[in-house]
Amino acid sequence: MKMIFLGAPGAGKGTQAAIISEKYGIPTISTGEIIRGAIKAGTEMGKNAKAYIEKGQLVPDEVVIGIVRDRLAEPDCAKGFILDGFPRTIAQAEALEAMDAKIDLVVDLMVSDEVIINRMGGRRVCTQCGATYHVTGNPSKDGKTCDKCGSELTTRKDDVPEVVKDRLSVYHTQTAPLEAYYEKKNLLQRIDGLIGLENVTAEIEKLMANLAEK
Ligand code: AP5
Repeated sequence: MKMIFLGAPGAGKGTQAAIISEKYGIPTISTGEIIRGAIKAGTEMGKNAKAYIEKGQLVPDEVVIGIVRDRLAEPDCAKGFILDGFPRTIAQAEALEAMDAKIDLVVDLMVSDEVIINRMGGRRVCTQCGATYHVTGNPSKDGKTCDKCGSELTTRKDDVPEVVKDRLSVYHTQTAPLEAYYEKKNLLQRIDGLIGLENVTAEIEKLMANLAEK
């Protein structure tokens, strides 16, 4: 199944993508993760993207489109994939269509801005494998290290309240129009992102099962 997880920053896209990826054996392509990896590795792309990420602005379309085009060409994407955080502009959605990606489902996780600002303050991420936790909603076993790889947990630089507000504003102006874009193509399915982690997963799985039956 070829899916896009849409939703505001902090809506739970990455958390759900990790669960579904593991359960169904399909890769997740997270442009945010790829860019953060490039920043950490000090590549040319990472150096150029750093300022955008830290200000909560979008990295230029041509950069992320190139990342996704290369990644989708890899053999593990042939049977299916989850795009987490891409597309984020109409231009990116059109570029994806031109790649002939044949998307089956667009899941839109709905969470209000107030909840998001609260959630981001409590998010913790693994410094090595990128696994995501929340200090109260989804804590790691000891609250300090990653359950999966044992590395230290940290906060993301773009999770400070001022940057979160900028990211939300970017989301509303540049990414939210994708809802109408995919609704017109009959691909969009909305899920309430406030119903708890397991319930959100169950709703996504229902949508996947319905599609598989068709
Ligand atoms: P990216 O890494 O994609 O960030 P984002 O879209 O802002 O999304 P987040 O990772 O912040 O949130 P999420 O929805 O994955 O939520 P999560 O599951 O972690 O992008 C970062 C930056 O990279 C962008 O600002 C931009 O600069 C650049 N970039 C990336 N892609 C780009 C593109 N296509 N074009 C241009 N630039 C791009 O959950 C959040 C928290 O909530 C966690 O603590 C989690 O434990 C908790 N939580 C999750 N679900 C629930 C639930 N149901 N109930 C309670 N708590 C929950």
